[in-house]
Amino acid sequence: MEERTSHEGWPSKVAVIGAGTMGLGVAECFAAAGIGVWLADATPEMTREAKGRLARRARGHAEAGLLSEEAAERAATVEVADDAPAAARDAGLVFEAVPENLDLKHEILAACSGAAPPDAVIVSNTSSLPMDELTGAVELPERFLGMHWFNPPEWTPGVEVIPAAATNPEVVERVMRFLRSIGKRPAVVGSSPGFVANRIQMALFLEAVRCVEEGLALPQEVDEVVRSCFGFRLPFFGPFQIADMAGLDVYSSVLETLEEGLGERFETPKVLGELVDRGRTGTKSGAGFLEYSDEERERLLLERDSRYAALNELLERLPPLEAGRDGGEA
Ligand SMILES: NC(=O)c1ccc[n+]([C@@H]2O[C@H](COP(=O)([O-])OP(=O)(O)OC[C@H]3O[C@@H](n4cnc5c(N)ncnc54)[C@H](O)[C@@H]3O)[C@@H](O)[C@H]2O)c1
Repeated sequence: MEERTSHEGWPSKVAVIGAGTMGLGVAECFAAAGIGVWLADATPEMTREAKGRLARRARGHAEAGLLSEEAAERAATVEVADDAPAAARDAGLVFEAVPENLDLKHEILAACSGAAPPDAVIVSNTSSLPMDELTGAVELPERFLGMHWFNPPEWTPGVEVIPAAATNPEVVERVMRFLRSIGKRPAVVGSSPGFVANRIQMALFLEAVRCVEEGLALPQEVDEVVRSCFGFRLPFFGPFQIADMAGLDVYSSVLETLEEGLGERFETPKVLGELVDRGRTGTKSGAGFLEYSDEERERLLLERDSRYAALNELLERLPPLEAGRDGGEA
């Protein structure tokens, strides 16, 4: 995490409401970026305890060489508020990270949007609740949207930005600029259950569990396959670029076999069938989901190979991660 000197004119104070797994990590991130943070958890005592946990967390990161001493000091000296509205007063951004409970989120969003200045942006870190179910609780809802971070927030660059129907597009733009200015890689996505990331992540997880249930592999073997086969590509490419490089005709044939054996959840999507019918089979034909000139394709494939080689070198240098033992439960 680096300190950024410019936050695109963003006000200097952020209220973080709910100082648990996510709230604390996001608070550390804001503090490290030089932004003033006000914390509020369920009670003043819990907020003070949370501040202590934040200081220890940042200290651990500094000792591991992941954070500067100055940033760790800033994280250790965040302000604490007696309650959520007190934290929101004077804030330019209110970040709600209380548990995934609709009534509780309504209560907190109503109280904080009522207390915050009218031009403050109000965001929820909800993982799954549709934005339009939350909007009704927010005073001046045109400044409300979802800002879905990932655990651990300090180190995971991606953030889903989820406008509600009432959100002012200028607020979305402002939030995108702000997140980029603190080193994040935000993407705007629609508000459907699980948004984009959890929908895809859960689909992967469900199939992983089914593979274990059906006796195809043990959990640790599934983890190895995911990590070292197709997951190995994911730091650099998303599913569309990967499919284009593999060949959409190949994907289409594989899906036919999967559908035959495993059912209609593997049915070839219409858009994929149409691309193949039109000869858009991916990089090899110059176009798939994306388009590539000959020169771009050559550059992409060479760059891909260099990055995979670099990742292999990094993995070889890092000691093996001891992560979990077989408890015989699956
Ligand atoms: N854990 C994850 O990996 C993850 C990832 C992305 C998004 N989220 C979402 O972020 C939100 C928070 O999740 P979490 O994992 O940090 O939960 P958590 O349980 O670790 O933290 C929630 C915090 O909110 C506090 N809280 C409860 N009532 C409160 C109140 N009335 N006022 C102020 N604070 C109150 C709790 O004491 C706790 O410290 C949820 O909406 C969750 O779905 C979680």
